[in-house]
Amino acid sequence: MAVDVLLGLQWGDEGKGKIVDVLAPKYQVVARFQGGPNAGHTLEFDGFKHVLHQIPSGIFRQEVQNIIGNGVVLDPIIFKKEIEGLAKYNLDLKKNLEVSKKASIILPTHRLLDAAYEKAKGDAKIGSTLKGIGPTYTDKISRQGLRVGDMISPNFKAKYDGLVARHKGILDVYQFEYDLTEAEKEFFEAVEFMKQFALVDSEYSVNNALDAGKTILAEGAQGSLLDVDFGSYPFVTSSNTVTAGACTGLGIAPKNIGEVYGIFKAYATRVGSGPFPTELLDEVGERMRQEGREFGSTTGRPRRCGWIDLPALKYAMMINGVTQLVMMKVDVLNIFEEINICTAYKLQDGTITQNLPYDLTDEKVEPVYETLKGWNTSLEGLRTFESLPAELTAYIKFLEEKLGLPINFISTGPDRDECVLRGALA
Ligand code: GDP
Ligand code: IMO
Ligand code: MG
Repeated sequence: MAVDVLLGLQWGDEGKGKIVDVLAPKYQVVARFQGGPNAGHTLEFDGFKHVLHQIPSGIFRQEVQNIIGNGVVLDPIIFKKEIEGLAKYNLDLKKNLEVSKKASIILPTHRLLDAAYEKAKGDAKIGSTLKGIGPTYTDKISRQGLRVGDMISPNFKAKYDGLVARHKGILDVYQFEYDLTEAEKEFFEAVEFMKQFALVDSEYSVNNALDAGKTILAEGAQGSLLDVDFGSYPFVTSSNTVTAGACTGLGIAPKNIGEVYGIFKAYATRVGSGPFPTELLDEVGERMRQEGREFGSTTGRPRRCGWIDLPALKYAMMINGVTQLVMMKVDVLNIFEEINICTAYKLQDGTITQNLPYDLTDEKVEPVYETLKGWNTSLEGLRTFESLPAELTAYIKFLEEKLGLPINFISTGPDRDECVLRGALA
């Protein structure tokens, strides 16, 4: 069997959590491969709404094995809180959840460093979630980070003290004031708490599952346009959010990648700073935000909203090798008389292009729009492609033609059941 990958094609928050949860019954393993508590993946079912940050979105399906892979940066304090928050669902988490010993640990001082760096950047700040993601990946790459496997080592405290001393040195340079007492106490409690879970070499779990013919879904976090290499650098996260990240973040060979589900909203959003060519700073954007409840699942910040951006979407499809498209939140566009679609960019020198310029911050592109008629009606209860309003099927067909792939999965509401499937996915 192959590992299927599911990831966001925009700036995150596309609705990955919902779709992983919907697809999970088809899989025996669901694994996170990058990111950490900067993610907020929302699942809604049976009247419950639950936001997951580090735990894979297959967790509510009892028969699914969930893995936090080596590419993830994990905050033990948030892990403990998440596990406690799941108590009411009566899940067997000691059995259904594995954590890679090679996943990096976020220390309380990583969060302080995140805050210190952002403060020092002033107006140029990234808009980080301040969860310590960047500083933790920095320490991983500079070969001085701590990993989950170190928690069970007798010299964990010594390793911790060594790294924290270096962090304190940097915080002093930034003249950043802090009090670590409470956070350190919570951290060491959480480290003890984590030891009761299966801390494993998860590359074996994943490859043994593959050998045994099991089905595996790799769950991306963030979005392709936040990828550290291909996103709108420097306004990105610090990991590879694209398909290739699933190979390094889980220890699977590229030849084992199967389907790549690319998820996108029927419009676009971004939270945090950075270029956003189709952003709507007017009343239309505000209506989109209210209708789509576009407020961050992790930070509560209002998300910036705009029309769908096909050059950016095509770029993300190219980098990821998308084989299946999933369109989310089409119901949010119910309220609009007309729907704009950005089909190209006009550069400052007048050139029209479908390619993403090297730097969208300096090169202020102007979106070229085509306009379609809206459907202006509720989609409630509609479960088949044939029952969708004609204007919506026209919108879908327009996108399919431009993107060169069918859209076989359409999400019409936050609940698990609010989906329209067709073609290969029906
Ligand atoms: P993720 O980070 O990609 O998992 O996405 P988030 O959970 O951060 O944000 C997606 C939001 O949209 C959540 O509040 C979901 O409950 C909600 N959502 C998901 N699919 C749909 C949909 O089709 N329609 C509407 N209106 N909301 C949706
Ligand atoms: P999910 O998985 C949306 C954004 C932040 C900031 C930038 C860097 O829920 O889609 P970081 O904390 O990683 O240093 O922040 O990336 N960001 C996200 N935006 N959804 C996410 O995750 C995000 N994770 C990080 O807002 O602009
Ligand atoms: Mg999210």
